[in-house]
Order: sequence, then C-alpha cells, then structure tokens
Amino acid sequence: MGEHFETRCIHGSGEHSFEEQTHAVSFPLYQTATFGHLGLGRSSGFDYTREKNPTRQRLEEIMTELEHGVDTVAFASGMAAVSACFELFSPGDHIICAEDLYGGTNRLLHTISMKNGLQVDFVDTTSLEQIRERLTPATRAIYIETPSNPMMRVTDLRGCAAIAKEHGLLLIADNTFLSPYFQNPIALGADIVIHSGSKFISGHNDTIAGFLTSARQDLADRIRLIAKTTGGMLAPFDCWLAMRGLKTLPIRMERQQQNAREVARWLGAQPGIEQVFYTGLADHPGYALNLSQARGCGSMLSFRTDTVQTAHRILNGVRLITFAESLGGTESLITYPLTQTHPDVPEQMRLRLGITDRLLRLSVGLEHVDDIIADLGQALEG
Ligand SMILES: Cc1ncc(COP(=O)(O)O)c(C=O)c1O
Repeated sequence: MGEHFETRCIHGSGEHSFEEQTHAVSFPLYQTATFGHLGLGRSSGFDYTREKNPTRQRLEEIMTELEHGVDTVAFASGMAAVSACFELFSPGDHIICAEDLYGGTNRLLHTISMKNGLQVDFVDTTSLEQIRERLTPATRAIYIETPSNPMMRVTDLRGCAAIAKEHGLLLIADNTFLSPYFQNPIALGADIVIHSGSKFISGHNDTIAGFLTSARQDLADRIRLIAKTTGGMLAPFDCWLAMRGLKTLPIRMERQQQNAREVARWLGAQPGIEQVFYTGLADHPGYALNLSQARGCGSMLSFRTDTVQTAHRILNGVRLITFAESLGGTESLITYPLTQTHPDVPEQMRLRLGITDRLLRLSVGLEHVDDIIADLGQALEG
C-alpha cells in the first residue's frame, strides 16, 4: 500500500498514519519529557524524550522512508545534525570536503573540527580527479552538497560513491537544496544524508530542524549513540511541525520549481544581471549531470549583478520578497551570502568561489510568480 512518494510523505510506510490508541488522523504531539514505568523492568519502550519520543520516532520513520535509509535521527537544527555527523571521526582523520558549502558547515570545520584534530581538504568536488588527487591513507570521508550553497555547483553522486567504495570511505551528502522529493543520494551510493529540516522539509519558515539518515545499520547505531550522548535532538513540537510540513512537500517542490524556472529565465534577460546560477537552465555547467541523478532542479538560484550598487538596490528595494537568511519555505527570501550565510568563509576561498558583494541568493517561494517577478523588477529599477 502507498508506494508513491506523495503517499509516503503523509503515511510513512504504513497503510494509514493513525496513532494506535485513539486513531487520531494527525499524529499526536507527545509533549512530555519523560515516560512512567508501570513497574520494575516494565518500560513502554519510551523512557526519556532525549532518547526517544513517539512524535520524533514517527517523523524519523517517515524521513527514513523518503531517503531510502535504514534509520534517521532528527536534530534540533541542520547544524546540530552536521556536528553530530563529524563526531563519527577521530583526531587525525582526513575528510575531503566540497569547497562550496553552506557557510555554517565551513565555519564548523574551520573553527571546531580542525581544532579537534580533523584534517580537512576543501576541494572542487565537481572534479572527481581533484577528489582522487587529495586522497591520503588517513582519508575517511567525502563530504558534499549538490547543488551547493550558494554557487549551485553539481557534484557527481555516483562518481563520488564509486571513489568512496573503492577506498573504504563514507560518502556524506547534504541534500537540503533538493529535498528527498527530487534527489535520493543513498539510492546512488551515499552512506549518510544530511538535511537542514528548517528548509523545504518543514517548508513554512516556522521551525529549525535537522536530519541524519543512514544507509547502514552500523552507522545508524553510532549516530544514535552520538545523538543520545550529546543531546541535540529535535523537540516534540518541532517534530510535529516538520511532520505537518512534509505532508505537502511534493506539491510545494513542484510549484516552487516551476516559479524558479520562470524567475531564472526572467533574471537572465535583465540588463543589471550578469549571470544566473540555476541548475534548471540548460547552459548551467551541471545541468545534464543534475538531471542524471535528480528528478528536478529545485527552486534555489543565485545571481551576480553588474555592480555592487545594483545588488544593494535589490536588497533594499524588495517589498514582497523578504531580505532574510534561510530558504525553502513558502515565502520567497533573498539573501546576501557575503554578509549573511557565508561571512566566515576565508576571504580567498570566498573570492575564488564567486561569493562577492555582487552575488545574491534567491529562494523562490509559493507566491504567484508574476508577483515575484514584479517585485524583483521594481527593486531593480529602484
Ligand atoms: C545546505 C545547508 N546545510 C545545512 C544548513 C544548516 O541548517 P540549520 O540552519 O537548520 O542549522 C543550512 C542552512 O542554511 C544549509 O543551507
């Protein structure tokens, strides 16, 4: 029953999503810190919410289904999930990491992971050759985002999985930008999938969440131990919100993608816009590769303006679109990576990647596309 993605977003793997005792159609919010024992050795299976909570368990089961994994842990934020993931490694271990990454992940690696003895090489992972060149006997993992934040670079998931397999490494993929609706890295050979659940999964710009989905039971067990020990898991109410958001993930992703395509085409024809980075445009260097490994292009795009003044005029001029960090929700958001999401990326790396004072990132939302374009138009004109 219910083989299709849309159905699984609502019902998980079960025929229906009734909670067992009351048959509530909306899975209940178990807003409790702890669970009583009926007697010695008589636990319901739920003891303490840091370890396990029914609302979180339900959400984790649905995410596991959607990402083709064996287990998922829901964390208090995407960064809590990323941090827990790096706890899998020991001092001296070497990680090959995509250089175009969410700025918070870059900051985590530079300020915390490296201090704790992890060796990290930042590489242009769109080149499998570059990944191979950086392998050392201490390499333990390849860490990628595809498409990447904010330059929308596309990395070959199957190619990375083949290198990882050949050398006994973990392939870790942050799948935030496409969501499980458009892309399933585990199905292509990844070992761990990361999500900032604050984005498309929750989908309404109203909660912060993160997920780690494992492809193998041994990894899942280690991640559960890390999560329960370090304690960064998602609170029940946020689990409930994420679960509600997931029910409409497919229709949101489709419509947001449709809007993004039109916005990208329109932006590309404007005199003040020098370049548009969107994997749904046929001239994007990763266009064909993305479509060979994903079912869509999503609704994230970046663009470079002709001058810094044009960039500032847009940021100051938008009225419908909000000038804010984050992405993936119902409301369109425009972001200045230089000062908002990527200020802590070392300057040389930032400039090499193209994260300059003329780069803007746009998360296209669910407003009518004509209104989004009209807003960008009036902001551009000033
Ligand atoms: C690709 C990506 N990964 C991880 C994160 C971190 O997620 P959170 O903000 O939920 O901690 C973000 C946040 O923007 C992101 O864009």
